[in-house]
Amino acid sequence: MRNLPIQTILSDSRKEKPNPETLVFGRSFTDHMFTAEYDEGIGWHSHRIVPYAPVTLDPAAIVFHYGQTVFEGLKAYRSSDGTVRLFRPEENMKRMNQSLDRLCMPKIDEEMALQALTELIQIEKDWIPTLKGTSLYIRPFVIANEAFLGVAPSKKYQFFIILSPVGSYYKEGIHPIKILVENEFVRAVKGGTGGAKTAGNYASGLKAQEVANERGLSQVLWLDGVERKYIEEVGSMNIFFKIDGEVVTPAINGSILEGITRKSILHLLHHWNIPVAERKVSIEEIQEAFEAGKLEEVFGTGTAAVISPVGELNWDGYKMVVNDGKTGPLARQLFNTLTNIQTGLAEDPFDWVLEL
Ligand code: COI
Repeated sequence: MRNLPIQTILSDSRKEKPNPETLVFGRSFTDHMFTAEYDEGIGWHSHRIVPYAPVTLDPAAIVFHYGQTVFEGLKAYRSSDGTVRLFRPEENMKRMNQSLDRLCMPKIDEEMALQALTELIQIEKDWIPTLKGTSLYIRPFVIANEAFLGVAPSKKYQFFIILSPVGSYYKEGIHPIKILVENEFVRAVKGGTGGAKTAGNYASGLKAQEVANERGLSQVLWLDGVERKYIEEVGSMNIFFKIDGEVVTPAINGSILEGITRKSILHLLHHWNIPVAERKVSIEEIQEAFEAGKLEEVFGTGTAAVISPVGELNWDGYKMVVNDGKTGPLARQLFNTLTNIQTGLAEDPFDWVLEL
């Protein structure tokens, strides 16, 4: 890891920590944050850890108008002996650089970002909740902050890392969620920004999400933007289907986000010799499998969502109840294996965890 001088200014007050029993996702934030700045011709500079506080931006900052921004999401856990554990953080930094490149933003030094992250977490380690199902969510992000109304890449940027103690992402917790298969709106198309972790992909998904919520469904499953036929992702997670003994997930195609949990689950499935395929999967194929009684399980994977079983898919007025609306054995086994590795309750045979 790089050894950059990072200036640290500690806060003279400490906030009250939230009750771990009632923790939700993304509502409370720790006492400090990391930030660094970028200027064209100079590069990244002024790396510092400072008290968590609102930031001041020019109203003409490019991020407000043209959405030039990217983010990441990863989690830290504290095991029973007090060791802090980060799950595959180098993968997030790598993906962040891919997103930055897609949005014409300057790359970060991945080792610098990891150093910043670990120094910040060392300072904030008492904020890592240890109750089962909780963790410290880490949100690195970069914004374009040049004051300019022309449509062009910004010449100035700011990098932040903020931390949030979290519970389950979905109010259902580990219980199966109900999903709307979206027919009208699309999330992304090939050649667009669907493969990058950028704000616009999430903003454009809100309308469909609202419709789903009004119908008592918690998430939207996106279909491809051209034929409205092939399954893409859920927006907050990638999706897997177990059909007649084989696990299938949509192949990465440029419009789907390449999840790090997705990659880890594929690795586990191969390791367990469970038949698995990354390929195109159409919604008709899922309907046929359901009608033939071969749709055994459906589950989503993501950093925030972990493994989230899907109990119901609603497509064009047609309802598919999966596994009687209950969590299936494979989703449960994957959830237990992954979270045990992450929290230190099990061996880490693939060297996924960075211990601090
Ligand atoms: C994550 O899983 O970390 C994500 O970024 C999904 C997010 C939209 C909550």
